[in-house]
Amino acid sequence: MCGIMGYAGREPAAPIVLDGLSRLEYRGYDSAGLAVLTDDGELTIKKGAGKLARLKECIGDQIPAGTTGIGHTRWATHGKATETNAHPHTDSKGDVTVIHNGIVENYLELRKELVAAGHHFRSETDTEVIPHLIEEEVKKGHDLTAAVCHAIARIHGAAAIVAMRRAEPGVLVAARVANAGGVVIGYGEDAIYVASDLPALIPYARKVVFLADGEVARVTKDGATYLGADGKPVQKTPQAMPEGPLAAGKGLYKHFMAKEIAEQPESVLNTMSGVFTIDPPEVELPDAPMTDEEVAAIKRVVLVGMGTSFHAALIGRTYLERLAGIAAEADNASEYRYREPLIDSSVLVVAVLQSGETVDTLAAMHEARERGARVIAVCNTPGSQATRVAHGTVFTRCGPEIAVASTKTFVGSLAALYLLACHLGARRGVLTPAELASRLGELARMPQLIGRAIRTEAACERIANRFRAAQHFLFLGRGMQFPVAMEGALKLKEVSYIHAEGYAAGEMKHGPIALIDEAMPVVALVPKDTHYAKMLNNVEEVRARDGLVIAIATEGDEVAASKAHEVVYVPEAPALLAPMVTVVPLQYLAYHIALRRGADIDQPRNLAKTVTVE
Ligand code: M6R
Repeated sequence: MCGIMGYAGREPAAPIVLDGLSRLEYRGYDSAGLAVLTDDGELTIKKGAGKLARLKECIGDQIPAGTTGIGHTRWATHGKATETNAHPHTDSKGDVTVIHNGIVENYLELRKELVAAGHHFRSETDTEVIPHLIEEEVKKGHDLTAAVCHAIARIHGAAAIVAMRRAEPGVLVAARVANAGGVVIGYGEDAIYVASDLPALIPYARKVVFLADGEVARVTKDGATYLGADGKPVQKTPQAMPEGPLAAGKGLYKHFMAKEIAEQPESVLNTMSGVFTIDPPEVELPDAPMTDEEVAAIKRVVLVGMGTSFHAALIGRTYLERLAGIAAEADNASEYRYREPLIDSSVLVVAVLQSGETVDTLAAMHEARERGARVIAVCNTPGSQATRVAHGTVFTRCGPEIAVASTKTFVGSLAALYLLACHLGARRGVLTPAELASRLGELARMPQLIGRAIRTEAACERIANRFRAAQHFLFLGRGMQFPVAMEGALKLKEVSYIHAEGYAAGEMKHGPIALIDEAMPVVALVPKDTHYAKMLNNVEEVRARDGLVIAIATEGDEVAASKAHEVVYVPEAPALLAPMVTVVPLQYLAYHIALRRGADIDQPRNLAKTVTVE
């Protein structure tokens, strides 16, 4: 899940490559590097451990000359986040230079073979075998394009690579192996670009080509030619740059995370705008068309996702069951894909993924399609791979989410899943027109209610002051609030590095209660829903063991407040939609604790926004 950027043109390559990388850092920020080649074959490589800013500092105003270049921002898989392990990597002679996103699964055996053949390795990375493999092929007389084709045939695992050679200045060769993270070729004025994702190309490319699995592109400043997985030339027609991957600024906020939490009312509003009417009650999903026969044929829904999107999928499961009357299950995409799932054309698979690029979720989608299922993506990124793999997409229109910790796309996904469930429920005759109107009316009120939940920030700051030094947190919820408890724990872990667990409150007595003592803050989600009384019992059980209770309760609920050490009030909301309001104080709690602990909130250690390796 690294970011890759390449440029072949007439301008100095380094500033353009660095600029592209600055919009790819969400894919990793363990180290960064670039390589620039002049028309005379003079190669300059610069690398820095840590974020891109460090590389920029190293380069300063000594911008290396050359109009062809490649750059990389790394999320470490093999080998520590050191300068030596930073990409680009070269072959023994320094002729071939490569950047890579993915994992070469058979790198140990390849490395052994190459070392035996006299190759000298410098780094601990799996990537370094690639330039050496290419070098071997060049020795046989192949040009760079053919050498890359031969080299990638030896690689097991997913890999997106870009290579260049001192002996062939002006040429970049890009390849996408085994459904690796994306490779996009961007067509600009007098230049061609290569990137792992669209945001890198925003200022530069009007048209783009996406490489399919196994395809290779040969890029020069004058254009690009393509080879298919069988090594034969293929024609690929550049398409207009999809709308949507706009750059975002922090505005007046200190962090993107704070800005994105505050944008949640708008995210839900935009996701539902133009999609439904209440009078007459109708939901139209223009990007996820289905015939009446297809809708009627659905016997089961399987929702998949990872991280926050998995938590949204868990809530979506209930929407599909209650509103559409279809049996539904939700699973981690990474588990699902290897489970040999029992699915066929009667199953609708709903993949939730804000980025549209998460490798495990994409693999689950491929698996589902191969088994004959219909696949719908719930996605925030137009033009992303997921939107191309799925039969249809329900877009969340949250705008770009930059902070690594997902916030606004969680509520956006919930809105999209709710609309999908209403749409299917109405078409299957499960919801009468009056019920549909009422359900949609409830959704229409949510931006305003989330807006009121945003006002919990001050209360969360107070609680953050009190608990900033805690070492563990427990989050408890039941029913619709159980996935919210998991999401609250995930947010806290991610941005503040505090150990946290999200549990179904009914599970507490089956083990986690052993952890509770006077040092254990327990966040209890106790909105007034059907689980309210049982949740209050759980709160009592925590208190009886000296646990410190932070209650997230419905406005005006003095009973919950009297049982807790701290209370945050959220507005009353319909039970199915209440996660959109109860999650807000959990996001703020994580944010303000992280702020007080001096954590790197928007780019937490070890994480990347988009996970493109398994
Ligand atoms: O792009 P996706 O929604 O597929 O991303 C899935 C997870 O990587 C993501 O939700 C991750 O868990 C977030 N950092 C959580 O805040």
